[in-house]
Amino acid sequence: IGNLDILGIETSCDETAASVVRRHADGSGEILSDVVLSQLDLHAAFGGVVPELAARSHVTTLDRLVKQALEESKVSLKSIDAVAVTSGPGLIGGLMVGLMTAKAIAMAADKPFIGINHLEGHALTARLTHAVKFPYLLLLVSGGHTQIVLVKGVDDYERWGTTIDDALGEAFDKTAKLLGLGYPGGPAVEQAALQGEAKRFRLPVPMRRDPRLDFSFSGLKTAVRQMAEEQAPLSPQTIADLCLAFQTSVTSSIDDRISMALERFAQRFGTESEPALVVAGGVAANTAIRTTLETRAAKSGFRFIAPPLNLCTDNAAMIAWAGAERIAAGLEGDALDLAPRSRWP
Ligand code: KG4
Ligand code: ZN
Repeated sequence: IGNLDILGIETSCDETAASVVRRHADGSGEILSDVVLSQLDLHAAFGGVVPELAARSHVTTLDRLVKQALEESKVSLKSIDAVAVTSGPGLIGGLMVGLMTAKAIAMAADKPFIGINHLEGHALTARLTHAVKFPYLLLLVSGGHTQIVLVKGVDDYERWGTTIDDALGEAFDKTAKLLGLGYPGGPAVEQAALQGEAKRFRLPVPMRRDPRLDFSFSGLKTAVRQMAEEQAPLSPQTIADLCLAFQTSVTSSIDDRISMALERFAQRFGTESEPALVVAGGVAANTAIRTTLETRAAKSGFRFIAPPLNLCTDNAAMIAWAGAERIAAGLEGDALDLAPRSRWP
């Protein structure tokens, strides 16, 4: 198979994004354009994503972003090989906007059309930026997802663990909110934790040594709330100390879960070929979490791969790339009556 140029579209949450990605014949990837419009400011006043506002904003901006992505890529619509779009999981209004747009372009330009599972986009991103062989282990940590996934191949995944309550980014956001920090909470908590005193508060480490590879964060958040109530009114130092305690429990839990997952991977596949541990999702921006994963991977004989931050958070390059990988793997595209799926495990 020769070069593939794929137009990708992403509108499943609060980023409107379009991108053109080239997959070279040797399997390497190249981002020709990558346009992302974050709706952060639109939702900040509400402390979270408002689905109706998100969908309306996608409608008004997506055309322009697709045009910009095509122009910047220097690839004409005529020479695009396929149109790939997130068809789930996500907010249904946004998914509908993306799908309608992608279908219209595919139909008008007479191009193959591919619906992509957003999680597959995150899962394959590492192969866009690095030469990573299957199988590898993925930790996906975002505002909506917290999963440990065995990536065996394109379209071939085993979910080894997931959260039984809140997603990790959600836990950061809720913790920030109850401590009076802004939205999104993750960066605010990480920032405050830098000034924290390590020994002041101790919080439980969720799921420690639990043989299922799942996560749980709502108990931790409740523990923070109780401590915050006992300490009220909260001084900036107390807030920093609580943030650090929260983040420390989170990294301990991740280290515990991931170390078990790496053991399980090693038992099944060995580590002679130096397999990879890959991280994706917005929470991968957290330095403490990255360092924890990097250290654990090195100890267990794994490579650690973190795609650049703009590819960890939601973007359309990962969707275009997943489309390219699917075509290269010989998988069929979709019919133009493909329906969006708000839930899609
Ligand atoms: O992947 P993402 O951009 O959006 C989706 O969830 O789809 O992830 C956003 C999440 C938010 O919950 C945000 O608080 C969290 O990632 N996040 C962080 C950091 N930066 C962003 N969490 C912890 N530490 C950070 N530095
Ligand atoms: Zn995402």
